[in-house]
Amino acid sequence: MLASWRQTIVVLLLGGWGLSAFAGGDAPIDTATIELNRKANEACYACHSAAGIAKPPKAGLDLSKLKDSRLEPPVFNPSDHGVMDCRECHSKTHYNDYPHAEAGKTSTVGCTECHAAKVLRLEPQFNASVHAKVKGVKEKFTCFTCHDPHINIVQKRLKDPAKIVAQDNHGCLECHNSSETFAKFAPEGEKTPGQKKARPDIDTIHDWLPNTRAHWKSVRCIECHTPEVAEAKMLSHEILNKEKAEKKCLTCHSANSTLKVRLYRHMVKDEQQKYGFTNSVILSNSYVIGATRHPLLDNILIGLAGLTLLGVLAHGAVRIIAAMGRKGKE
Ligand code: HEC
Ligand code: HEC
Ligand code: HEC
Ligand code: HEC
Ligand code: HEC
Ligand code: HEC
Ligand code: HEC
Repeated sequence: MLASWRQTIVVLLLGGWGLSAFAGGDAPIDTATIELNRKANEACYACHSAAGIAKPPKAGLDLSKLKDSRLEPPVFNPSDHGVMDCRECHSKTHYNDYPHAEAGKTSTVGCTECHAAKVLRLEPQFNASVHAKVKGVKEKFTCFTCHDPHINIVQKRLKDPAKIVAQDNHGCLECHNSSETFAKFAPEGEKTPGQKKARPDIDTIHDWLPNTRAHWKSVRCIECHTPEVAEAKMLSHEILNKEKAEKKCLTCHSANSTLKVRLYRHMVKDEQQKYGFTNSVILSNSYVIGATRHPLLDNILIGLAGLTLLGVLAHGAVRIIAAMGRKGKE
């Protein structure tokens, strides 16, 4: 009784979150429960996996649909949610039997119901994003659009920058590098009413950036397309438009690279814990050039410095000549 009163009060305090906030939480799960959950999930893999499709436990299953909903334990288990029972998100009751109850389709638990605190912090950023501003796009854009709850692994556990970049950029490139997927979300074109806006080519947009493909492999879209957050635990979810996005090379290619508090943040933190201070291991391993030496960037920078020097000299020369001219008149 007391507990339920307390819950009611908390629900009132949480206001809009409603009762569903108690569908689950994101507290760490103990080892014994994890084992039980993984055992329970085997019932789902009997159909929802490559092995299940190869040897269906029942005749007459829609195998083409199953092909699109495959999950494999080696991928799911190490993911952020790999410790959970599938039914914690997919309804406790509707998936125990096959055919699944129709109601299952609409009872998937949303991120907010377990991650209320994080969502509360990031929702205003999400709502300020480019994707939340375009009519026809914002209605279709949800947390699942970028986050695959079956696969994704949080940055602080992935650690390796190459893996973090691959995972996070996959979310963006899935649309911005595929006309087919882009068309599913794109608004109508201004000049082509009734027709979807064509996808601007991702490399052409960024043609001011040398070797874009190398950049897509070693740096995330969100590095340039989200605002600076000084001491935040996670990057902002506000995706910036082309006017506001970062264009300056030195933001990354310098000893004071922004990547230290973004992409390499967890490496820096580990280093600090291990050595008690942040030394230059990350930078001297040349994760980012400019912090160390690199011939091409050096040449660009020397070139820029050279031009500046020429400018100064020319300016000086003009002044000297002008002064001499004035002296001559006197
Ligand atoms: C039914 C509850 C539930 C739902 C719904 C849910 N999560 Fe989780 N999530 C968890 C639990 C539990 C963990 C922690 C597992 C562990 O490590 O013990 C977690 C972990 C995470 C982590 C790792 C966080 C960290 O700091 O370790 C991320 C990121 C995450 N979830 C994102 C999402 C997103 C995005 C969605 C929506 C697509 C979502 N979650 C939906 C329960 C949920
Ligand atoms: C006997 C095979 C079989 C088993 C076991 C099975 N599924 Fe399915 N599931 C399917 C098929 C086939 C579909 C494709 C849609 C359909 O035919 O209903 C599907 C669809 C789904 C969908 C998509 C939404 C929907 O309702 O169509 C979800 C989610 C799902 N299953 C979750 C689960 C979970 C969770 C488990 C384990 C608790 C599980 N399934 C066990 C065969 C199975
Ligand atoms: C943290 C929550 C969460 C967990 C745990 C989870 N799922 Fe899902 N799953 C989702 C969400 C959310 C969607 C819907 C994505 C969408 O609407 O685009 C989904 C979609 C699906 C689908 C539909 C096809 C697809 O891939 O989009 C199937 C099948 C499925 N899940 C099966 C499973 C099975 C089997 C497990 C356990 C091994 C599992 N899920 C664990 C959240 C979860
Ligand atoms: C446009 C793509 C996109 C959308 C939409 C999106 N996210 Fe994210 N999210 C990301 C990326 C990329 C990261 C990794 C950034 C980072 O390192 O902090 C991330 C990180 C996260 C994290 C992990 C932060 C941490 O380190 O603990 C959580 C939790 C999260 N998102 C929840 C959500 C929720 C909830 C929604 C829906 C309201 C959502 N996201 C919508 C792209 C997206
Ligand atoms: C599901 C598809 C999809 C995903 C995923 C996606 N986008 Fe988009 N994005 C769109 C669509 C559609 C538009 C609107 C296009 C328009 O109106 O020109 C858009 C617009 C944008 C714009 C605005 C362009 C401008 O006019 O200034 C930027 C920047 C952008 N996206 C970056 C990203 C980044 C970064 C990510 C990953 C974190 C991402 N997008 C993920 C579909 C997607
Ligand atoms: C080095 C920083 C940087 C990175 C990394 C980056 N962008 Fe951009 N992006 C920009 C800037 C700056 C602009 C504006 C360019 C202009 O106006 O000339 C832009 C423009 C865009 C646009 C606007 C297109 C239009 O309508 O003109 C989209 C969409 C976009 N970027 C998506 C992405 C995606 C997706 C990724 C990751 C694959 C990405 N960007 C990576 C800096 C970056
Ligand atoms: C958001 C951070 C970021 C920005 C902004 C950025 N870069 Fe990079 N750049 C990187 C990273 C990370 C790499 C890959 C690691 C490395 O080689 O040091 C890279 C690689 C390079 C390379 C080597 C590519 C190759 O062929 O291997 C060159 C050249 C380069 N950048 C030049 C530039 C120039 C010029 C600009 C400005 C127009 C710029 N970068 C803006 C992060 C950035």
